[in-house]
Amino acid sequence: MFFNKLIGIFSNDMAIDLGTANTIVSVRGKGIIINEPSVVAVQKDKYGKDRILAVGQEAKQMIGKTPLNIQAVRPMQDGVIADFEMTERMIRYFIEKAHSRKSFVRPRIIISIPYGITQVERKAVEESAISAGAREVFLVEEPMAAAIGAGIPVADPSGYVVVDIGGGTTEIGVTSLGGLVLSKSIKVAGDKLDKSIIDYVRQNYNLFIGERTAETVKLAVGTAIKLDKELNIKVKGRDNSGLLSTIELGSEGVRTAIKEPLKEIVNALKAVLEDMPPDLAGDVVDNGVILTGGGALIRGLDRYIADIVKLPVRVAEEPLLAVAYGTSKVLDEDNLLKLITNA
Ligand SMILES: Nc1ncnc2c1ncn2[C@@H]1O[C@H](COP(=O)(O)OP(=O)(O)OP(=O)(O)O)[C@@H](O)[C@H]1O
Ligand SMILES: [Mg+2]
Repeated sequence: MFFNKLIGIFSNDMAIDLGTANTIVSVRGKGIIINEPSVVAVQKDKYGKDRILAVGQEAKQMIGKTPLNIQAVRPMQDGVIADFEMTERMIRYFIEKAHSRKSFVRPRIIISIPYGITQVERKAVEESAISAGAREVFLVEEPMAAAIGAGIPVADPSGYVVVDIGGGTTEIGVTSLGGLVLSKSIKVAGDKLDKSIIDYVRQNYNLFIGERTAETVKLAVGTAIKLDKELNIKVKGRDNSGLLSTIELGSEGVRTAIKEPLKEIVNALKAVLEDMPPDLAGDVVDNGVILTGGGALIRGLDRYIADIVKLPVRVAEEPLLAVAYGTSKVLDEDNLLKLITNA
């Protein structure tokens, strides 16, 4: 007991929001200390072995711009581990960075995972954290973490709906009494919006653009609703004949481009609302729907969704950080950890 307490003091327990797009690390009592893209840049040496060149922001800059022997990898795809070895190396890098390599006790780690991943995928996350140096791993479902991070009183006997639109997955959860009463996860989120923009530009302008450019376009002019003053952006790419060319793209076009994936997200929310027990449905009429994740920042998305589901919809204060705030809170409050993980 005493020994456990001692370990608790020195272990620098941490929480990781292992996202498809961004990884956010918090340390017990210190809050968020790392927030970087989930990207690893590796170089093949002359023996064919991978050497890590960069992780995070620096690696993201390299996407789509690397020479042949260098690869910028996103080890998480669609919310789950696509490249086990790279994920483990990325987690190890972040653990070491978090503790500036000084730590002498292996940390306990809380990791948020998408709702509805398979048992095999859960194991993969656990094992990658263990082999990256964790002593013990707790998994928290993303919609629950998002709800806690958005300030929802999840322990209350009242239904709250949270929609977390990340890079790889959109997670919808209904919380009540410390649990998820209903949940749904679909692989339609920020990355799909980027892909839709790539397809739209190719089909309508015969221009090929990359992922990074598509994301820039989405951030600059992406909107779910008609804007009072529509926006424009110049986009560079390669045309059919292989020549470089520049076009001007408006927010109206981008709205058309992302219409389908946005519809899929709202349909998933509608499906959850339809499955809700009547008493909880009553709560939701009052409590409304809370949006988290980077996707929540698309212009007018709250209004777009509110018009369709006929409920109040609001964006959490810092949507990109909601899941990380949630995991960080679980890390700081033992009771909360017990409540939601049965630990
Ligand atoms: N202002 C913005 N407008 C629209 N989209 C944005 C904005 N800022 C970030 N995004 C998008 O949000 C996504 C990243 O969000 P977030 O960090 O919540 O995802 P993640 O947690 O890494 O992914 P997941 O939860 O699916 O594993 C990216 O697709 C990014 O392009
Ligand atoms: Mg996320």
